[in-house]
Amino acid sequence: MSPRMPTRNDFFIVLHEIFAKRVEVSDIHCVKDAKVPLMMFKFEGISVDLPYAQLQVITVPENVDILNPLFLNGIDEFDLQNVDIYPLGLLENQTMRDAIPKTARHFIFPLHPIRSQLETACPGVVSCADIVALAARDSVVQTGGRSWQVPLGRRDGLVSQASDTANLPAFNDPISVQISKFADKGLNTQDLVTLVGGHTIGTSACAFISVRLYNFNNTNGPDPDINQAFLPQLRALCPDGGDGSRRVALDTGSVNSFGSSYYENLRNGRGVIESDAKLWSDRRTQRYVRGFLGQAGSRFNAEFGRAMVKMGNVEVKTGRQGEIRRVCTATN
Ligand code: HEM
Repeated sequence: MSPRMPTRNDFFIVLHEIFAKRVEVSDIHCVKDAKVPLMMFKFEGISVDLPYAQLQVITVPENVDILNPLFLNGIDEFDLQNVDIYPLGLLENQTMRDAIPKTARHFIFPLHPIRSQLETACPGVVSCADIVALAARDSVVQTGGRSWQVPLGRRDGLVSQASDTANLPAFNDPISVQISKFADKGLNTQDLVTLVGGHTIGTSACAFISVRLYNFNNTNGPDPDINQAFLPQLRALCPDGGDGSRRVALDTGSVNSFGSSYYENLRNGRGVIESDAKLWSDRRTQRYVRGFLGQAGSRFNAEFGRAMVKMGNVEVKTGRQGEIRRVCTATN
């Protein structure tokens, strides 16, 4: 995004020349006449699509909120399209942006280079749904979990609506709701407990944790299920009224290592988000958590792969259904 002085020619000629001289940059070309004009190149082997939008302002602050109408005032149709389609610097539409919690947007960034590289190697063949399924398996393997065979051949959906994410369980859903949302997709309670074990890696934003720490169920106090020794630790990580986007490990002490320690933490009152903690406090799910404790913990790695294949088979589109998305965050 540029302020109003540089022209589109400056972008497509001058900036193009500057990039072309850089050793890290290869395969550079401009797509001036496309619906969304952009410069495409490889930076250290990674494909980058760089769109251009000229704003009618004198300066563009580094942390510009490109959805703020003040910045979009007087902007021409082409540029508006670029801003609208590329709000985070990669192809995604407003619906997708709304669907992804602000705190989780870092997740979509790795998908973009994978999609572009595949599109160059074999255009229109591999779906985004398959990429996500493979990337999930590879993340588990990279963090020390066991591999599994991912069935492939899914096609991508033709719809991309924020409202469709409403049938995903929420961070504070009671166990009965978690169970029924999974059941709606053909997944049972054991699958639920096994799959949520995915929280053995990764982090949560404080925004999903704070209510448990300071005003649980409007009591002005913490969730009594939180271990007394753990409460001050969590409070130090997410201070009252502090930055809701700060991130906290979901599996304390083992955030980058895939394994059953997550279930040990649940048993010890060290579940971080409410929906996790409830897996221990509700007997319907506690029996499956127990099945992954102690010696039995080694079962988790095998069970997780099985449950991922089962989840990966839910409502799969094949044959002539759906499409192969060119860009994962938007329909074609
Ligand atoms: C009842 C079902 C589930 C609920 C309520 C739930 C909720 C959440 C929440 C609130 C976060 C934090 C999001 C953020 O702050 O960015 C999160 C993160 C995460 N979830 Fe879940 N989740 C569920 C099921 C699953 C399943 C089935 C998996 C994988 C098989 C999974 C894998 C993850 C991972 C890896 C993270 C960390 C992401 C990161 O580090 O950016 N979750 N989950």
